[in-house]
Amino acid sequence: MEKKATNIVWHKTNVNREERESLLNQKAKLLWFTGLSGSGKSTVAVALEKRLHELGKLTYLLDGDNVRHGLNSDLGFSKEDRIENIRRISEVSKLFVDAGVLTIATFISPFIEEREKVRKLLGEDFVEVYIDCPLEICEQRDPKGIYKKARNGEIKDFTGIDSPYEVPLNPEVTVSTHLNTLEQCVDSIIEYLGIKTN
Ligand code: ADX
Repeated sequence: MEKKATNIVWHKTNVNREERESLLNQKAKLLWFTGLSGSGKSTVAVALEKRLHELGKLTYLLDGDNVRHGLNSDLGFSKEDRIENIRRISEVSKLFVDAGVLTIATFISPFIEEREKVRKLLGEDFVEVYIDCPLEICEQRDPKGIYKKARNGEIKDFTGIDSPYEVPLNPEVTVSTHLNTLEQCVDSIIEYLGIKTN
């Protein structure tokens, strides 16, 4: 994206990320959930956040539908808008991670190239979590009734129907919501993070 602001200077702050992390007794990360609509991103994220909170961790959940009500309410689902959606979220996520927070972002984020940009922006703080679930099952679940609308043409450019979803090639964690219980999905992410549960 073109940078429009000029004559701007980066100000250093007096309290840094390490100090915030040590205050919170945690290491910040960005857990980037990607997967089809209806795959279970929000469900797993909500349960994971609750578990982390109970373990004394400071968390924040950035959710696709919620962010599209506010910050990104000017964006639709064209390829261009999805790219801008992810770009803004990645910058917001970076601020949260710098604040020391265990940040969970749940967006379909269908394009490998865009997810790789987030990885580059966050470096080793980026954890790609693939929420795996076959399209047929997502469509059967259809919790918001939107696959039905996409199939009968009421919604255009719907991911998995007439807009692509590119499966992650090498995610840090894969959870298969059609094969495992919610608790097992959450456990595997907690385990990956190496967070002590007792
Ligand atoms: S993304 O592709 O830009 O990453 P995002 O995660 O923010 O998508 O939003 C996806 C949510 O928007 C879906 O869970 C669904 O409820 C809703 N939605 C509405 N229209 C579409 C569409 N055409 N494709 C995908 N999701 C849509």
